Amino acid sequence: MNSAEWKEKLLSIRKGFFDSAVKSNASNINAFETEYLGRKGFLTLLLRDLKDFSLEEKKLLGHLGNTLKSEIANKLSELKNKFGSVSSPSGIKNDFDLTLPAYPYSKGSLHPITQTINKITEIFLKLGFSVAEGPFIENEYYNFEALNIPEDHSSRDMHDTFYSDIKDSKNKDLLLRTHTSPVQIRTMEKLKPPLRIISPGRVFRRDAIDASHSFVFYQIEGFYVDRNVSMADLKWTLETFIKELFGEKAKLRFRPSYFPFVEPGAEVDMSCVFCPPIGNDKKGKCPVCKDTGWIEVLGAGVIHPKVLKSCGYDSDKWSGFAFGAGIERFAMLLFGIKDMRVLYENDLRILKQL
Ligand code: PHE
Repeated sequence: MNSAEWKEKLLSIRKGFFDSAVKSNASNINAFETEYLGRKGFLTLLLRDLKDFSLEEKKLLGHLGNTLKSEIANKLSELKNKFGSVSSPSGIKNDFDLTLPAYPYSKGSLHPITQTINKITEIFLKLGFSVAEGPFIENEYYNFEALNIPEDHSSRDMHDTFYSDIKDSKNKDLLLRTHTSPVQIRTMEKLKPPLRIISPGRVFRRDAIDASHSFVFYQIEGFYVDRNVSMADLKWTLETFIKELFGEKAKLRFRPSYFPFVEPGAEVDMSCVFCPPIGNDKKGKCPVCKDTGWIEVLGAGVIHPKVLKSCGYDSDKWSGFAFGAGIERFAMLLFGIKDMRVLYENDLRILKQL
């Protein structure tokens, strides 16, 4: 090949490139590039032929060849920019358009139980209470004895307890706590009165699962110890709490009841905030209170002097009230859930609505 033929070839490569360039698109641009500038591309091979030319010719033709090479490279990058995309050699298209909005991804949200605990906690924080926690694995002293429930006391039957075979270092039976009341003892042992504490958390009982029972559930304990604390303080505190949670219309009713760690003790009902029944036009068929007008929400009372004494408090000087409520019941009322199992099954279709 002489230099004239070489130049002619160069021109035809140039023509070939620019003629085909108009037909290029996002998916063939890489192949097109390889065809001309690749290791065995037209232009690469032609430049390689220069080795047989004289030094003078090499200089001249080389300059022409390199000029075309950069011309082609510029055009290619211009085309790539235009397509805004690059196809990989495997033919898989990678489209990157940074101006497009991102794919929406679903955000998590707090579980209804957590939301309920947060709401209740917020109310009590405003009333000057602090939050304390206690262990799930308790011993019988904290869960029962210190709360005035001695061994063989019939009220232990009220708590279907998960016992362990293991004893702790004080030779006390270990068990899963059946209520949050042991936190009263643990806190009073550590801190001096006056005290205002709430303690939400999991508790465990050997219950079969149904629409309103589970073997793991949540309670919130509250207690207040100071001078001259009475049933009246308890009533005011609980009424304020329930109105904050369910609105001004909510009322409370106290029924005498027995818990060994309080005296007097009461079970507390809330007026049914769903009467007349929502979504049920047949009069007198409230699915929530079964037409009684009341919903049982918690147990409460004035802390028994024996309990204060077992924590080293002088019960002549100090008195207190305590209450314990199931959190699921509040969550169900707040979110309109009829079956408690919904709260544990983690069905995202349901949880996403709450
Ligand atoms: N611990 C009791 C229960 O689980 C509730 C309660 C707490 C009652 C505090 C009175 C005072 O049933």
